[in-house]
Amino acid sequence: MRILLFGSRGMLGSDLQKEFEDSGHEVMGVDREEVDITHGPNIADVFHTIEPEVVINATGYTDVDGAETNREAAFVLNSEAVKYLAEAAAAVSAKFVHISTEMVFDGDNKSGYNETTEPHAVNVYGESKAAGEKHVLVYESGGYLVRTSWLYGKFSQRGKPRGLNFIETMIKLANEKPEVKVVNDQFGKLTSTKDLAQAITQLISGGYVPGIYHLVNEGVASWYDVAKEIWQRCGLKATLQPISSSEYPSIAKRPKYSVLVNTKFPPLRPWQQALADYLS
Ligand SMILES: NC(=O)c1ccc[n+]([C@@H]2O[C@H](COP(=O)([O-])OP(=O)(O)OC[C@H]3O[C@@H](n4cnc5c(N)ncnc54)[C@H](OP(=O)(O)O)[C@@H]3O)[C@@H](O)[C@H]2O)c1
Repeated sequence: MRILLFGSRGMLGSDLQKEFEDSGHEVMGVDREEVDITHGPNIADVFHTIEPEVVINATGYTDVDGAETNREAAFVLNSEAVKYLAEAAAAVSAKFVHISTEMVFDGDNKSGYNETTEPHAVNVYGESKAAGEKHVLVYESGGYLVRTSWLYGKFSQRGKPRGLNFIETMIKLANEKPEVKVVNDQFGKLTSTKDLAQAITQLISGGYVPGIYHLVNEGVASWYDVAKEIWQRCGLKATLQPISSSEYPSIAKRPKYSVLVNTKFPPLRPWQQALADYLS
C-alpha cells in the first residue's frame, strides 16, 4: 500500500515508518520540517506527490502540562489540523488513521473505558484530543480512530520538554540519586510504540472495518508498578519509594484510572513482555 505518514520523526511515527517499510509498504514520512499541518493549504501538495491509499496522523501537541497554558496551540494541532487531514484523505478516498489517547477519559471508572464510552477529559490536552476525534468519526467513508496510552519507544518523544520516555527517565534518576519517588495511585496500560506500530500495520491491512480501536499492551499497572519492574530487570540500586499524586503535583490534572479496554482487536502481549524486549 502507498502510505502517507505525518509525524514520521516523532516517538511513535519513527516506529511506524520502520514497521511499514519492513512490511513492504511504500511509505512517505513527513514531519513538521516538510509540512506544517496546521496550515491547510500545505497539505494538498504532499497528497498530489504520493496519491496515498492510507493516511496516518501520528503528530500531536503532546506536552500535557504545556497545553494548560497553550490551549489554542493544542487545539490547532490536535483538532483543527485533524480536520484538514481527514478532508484531504476523504478527497482521494484514502483510509485515514488518527492516533488519540486515554486522556480523553476522566479516569474515574475502575472498570476502564471501552471503544463505545463517551469521552470526558479532565485536562486541556485531553479536551483537544477529544475535539480532534470528532473529525475522524464524521469522515464519510469512515476513519480509524486508534486510542492508546502510556507510550514508550526507542525514539525520543519530541513534544516532551525533556524528550526522555518514562523508562529512560527512571534509569537516569536511579543512576543519579539514592532514592527515587514514583506515583502509585495512577493506573494505566503501558504500551510499546513498536508493538503499537505492528498492531496499526495489521489494522490497515487486515480487513478491519473503520471505527474506534483501543490498541494497548495488556495488563493494568501503576507508574510505581512499572518502575518496580524496571528496577528488577535492570538491577538498579537506588531506593524506590511509592508516593501519592498529591506528593507529586503537576500543572495538568491526570486521570487516576485511565485504562483502555480493547474489545475489538486481538489483544497485544502483556506490558511486562514488551518492556523486557525493550530493555534487552
Ligand atoms: N506519548 C504518549 O504517551 C501518548 C499516549 C497516547 C497517545 N499519544 C498520541 O500519539 C501520537 C504520537 O505521540 P508521540 O509521543 O509519538 O509524539 P511526539 O514524539 O511528540 O511526535 C509528534 C510529532 O509531530 C510533529 N509535529 C508537531 N507539530 C506539527 C505540525 N504542526 N505539523 C507537522 N508535524 C508536527 C512533531 O514535530 P516537532 O518535534 O517538530 O514538533 C513530532 O515529530 C500523538 O497523537 C499523541 O497524542 C501519545
